[in-house]
Amino acid sequence: MEKFDRPLAKIIGTGSYLPERILTNQDLEKMVETTDEWIVSRTGMKERRIARPDEYTSDMGLAAAQKALEAAKLSPDQIDLILFATITPDYIFPNTASLIQARLKAVNAAAVDIQAACTGYLYGLAMAKAFIESGVYKNILLIASEKLSCIVNYEDRNTCVLFGDGASAAVISGSGRGLRIRDVTLGADGEQAELLVLPAGGSRSPASQETVEGNLHYLRMEGKEVFKHAVRRMESASKESIDRSGLKEEEITWLVPHQANMRIIEALAKRFQVPFEKVYVTIHKYGNTSASSLGIALDELVHEHPPSSGENILLAAFGAGLTWGASVLSYE
Ligand SMILES: CC(C)(COP(=O)(O)OP(=O)(O)OC[C@H]1O[C@@H](n2cnc3c(N)ncnc32)[C@H](O)[C@@H]1OP(=O)(O)O)[C@@H](O)C(=O)NCCC(=O)NCCS
Repeated sequence: MEKFDRPLAKIIGTGSYLPERILTNQDLEKMVETTDEWIVSRTGMKERRIARPDEYTSDMGLAAAQKALEAAKLSPDQIDLILFATITPDYIFPNTASLIQARLKAVNAAAVDIQAACTGYLYGLAMAKAFIESGVYKNILLIASEKLSCIVNYEDRNTCVLFGDGASAAVISGSGRGLRIRDVTLGADGEQAELLVLPAGGSRSPASQETVEGNLHYLRMEGKEVFKHAVRRMESASKESIDRSGLKEEEITWLVPHQANMRIIEALAKRFQVPFEKVYVTIHKYGNTSASSLGIALDELVHEHPPSSGENILLAAFGAGLTWGASVLSYE
């Protein structure tokens, strides 16, 4: 039996924002030695969005946040906390959440960034759930936004075809109708930190002429190794999250996975026997948008197929750290 004497955290509004400019596989064929056929068959990606030079992570995050607030029918002054998940903040400090707080005039909100790479949205959901259900805060705005195009080396075919820019947001509250966050299961393995890394710009290797000349301000990835961990970790986190939610695997209505590679998505869907028409995919049009990927897919899903009572959505993600997680949402 559920106890109803404490608030239950729900997503009561979502939003997303994608920049207008489209970078297609054909465009990439002119930039590096690659082919549309290779990219589609190895990743499932056809195009991705790229922000304007004067369009920053905070701008995209703000646009997504405004849509989520509108959907939730809340005004910015009703928000108690802004969580901002990103690996491409406007600055190392101050945090991007504070920039959003000012631009929204969310005068009652505390503000902090979360850095868990592609799992950032799920880490944010877990924190929001904990704050709401413990009664610390009433309304939380979670934003995930990435301008990955500023840390991608467009001369490196191993990585430049994979990533895109975009933002998503969710309002999480203890009251109102929406998607109840039944569980969030998280994990990390820092032993694998070197598999996906932005080598310079931090205290270990501050920006210098050498770091710039050595291309150390671009992300580096051991794709094959990351792939292996991704499938295994998302599977186990998903299973655990379904168990902790008190549901059976066959009760999952939709699978919304992190959009990093179509083959990873297919492997996960097969493992949970979710029919492919119930797997929500955006990878062909946006590529991998890191922290914002799950939220963009969830926002598009709820707009295209408004959830009905009894539907359960499984979210699953993994990323640099390594970090990973899964969550089960139920429409109530
Ligand atoms: C990156 C990824 C698509 C590569 O696919 P893969 O099947 O593992 O490919 P490999 O790394 O084995 O590379 C195979 C060959 O294709 C080549 N290749 C890599 N990128 C290429 C491109 N864009 N176009 C053409 N060839 C390419 C490689 O150089 C390699 O050539 P070689 O065999 O002569 O050395 C895949 O490993 C992946 O998606 N990994 C997970 C990445 C991920 O999810 N990262 C984000 C975490 S949030």
